[in-house]
Amino acid sequence: MRILSVVGARPQFVKLAPVAAALAEAGHEHVIVHTGQHYDPELSEVFFTGLGIAPPDERLAAGSGGHGAQTGAMLTALDPVLSRHAPDWVLVYGDTNSTIAGALSAVKLHLPLAHLEAGLRSGNRRMPEEHNRVLTDHAADLLLAPTPQAVLNLEREGLADRTVLVGDVMVDACLHAREQALARTEPEPPAPGIDPSQPYLLATIHRAENTDDPERLGEILTVLAALPVPVALLAHPRLRARAAEYGLELAQGAIRPGAPQPYAQLIAAVTGSAGVVTDSGGLQKEAYLLGRPCTTVRSETEWPETLTGGWNTLIQAGDPRFAETVLRPQPVTARGEPFGDGHAAARVVKELERAAR
Ligand code: UD1
Repeated sequence: MRILSVVGARPQFVKLAPVAAALAEAGHEHVIVHTGQHYDPELSEVFFTGLGIAPPDERLAAGSGGHGAQTGAMLTALDPVLSRHAPDWVLVYGDTNSTIAGALSAVKLHLPLAHLEAGLRSGNRRMPEEHNRVLTDHAADLLLAPTPQAVLNLEREGLADRTVLVGDVMVDACLHAREQALARTEPEPPAPGIDPSQPYLLATIHRAENTDDPERLGEILTVLAALPVPVALLAHPRLRARAAEYGLELAQGAIRPGAPQPYAQLIAAVTGSAGVVTDSGGLQKEAYLLGRPCTTVRSETEWPETLTGGWNTLIQAGDPRFAETVLRPQPVTARGEPFGDGHAAARVVKELERAAR
């Protein structure tokens, strides 16, 4: 079989790694198409080298822009590439603009489409990721769901006959990286000015709803700066750009800004931390898998399983309980395996083989 993966943004490279390894092991041909949505080396290249993924076979140059312009640029560039490779499956990942572009291109070219991480729902129709998820699920021929909750969501939308539960490939990636992190003797500082042998918190903020509103971003930074523990703030380029635009200082009080980290270093940094503050979907789950309390700066999550036992707590910027939520004691409730057992990628390959036309 020839499988063509469309990826473009940081979390998709993480999901691609175990899938690429499983496809190679099963002897399938795998074409990797990088849309160019993320182009800075720290958001793109380091994931390919760090996770041992072969360089992309095709590099498009979609770059940044408004949703329509960015998605449109990808579509224009994807059509001839997908036609030329004529794969047995086009595989799209997660919920970014690269996902919906890959999905639309495949459907219009009558190529079989599989969606990895299908069925997630935040219920928030203002999130670009929610549009991307829902539309991709309804376009796809095969829905690879990571959790029983995702399966339920798809059943509710009448998509049961195309859905299979495979588990979450992020678990495969995370557990693999944790082994590497544990094997390392000297922990590295996750950001300049952080002593990894002392307690610290790990923070990332990159979602438009938080970064693109000066008042909200200011409130988040004020709370983080006043915490009694140092905060390693791994700053996405969007956060840096918006903070500079609004005249907000990242390096204030307890905050120690640093660069986004390659995946293995990120997993080591979560493992070494006392807790996580984030608006990322993936990091909520990584904190859960690694047993670190997470505070998510959003009003909803598409990973509700992480909320069990207080391991993850949602809080809005400006809520007076923000600091006390971040500083709550470590939960004691057992976490279980709601995201699968770390062998999801092998199941993905089996399902692609089974459902091939
Ligand atoms: C995208 C995804 C989001 C995912 C995130 C992971 C969409 C709608 N959103 O958000 O779901 O959680 O990736 O990081 O697809 N920029 C750079 N260098 C880069 C890429 C982006 O500086 O390599 C800056 C540009 O100013 C750009 C901004 O970041 O305008 C936003 O980038 P974009 O790709 O639109 O979305 P993300 O915020 O990264």
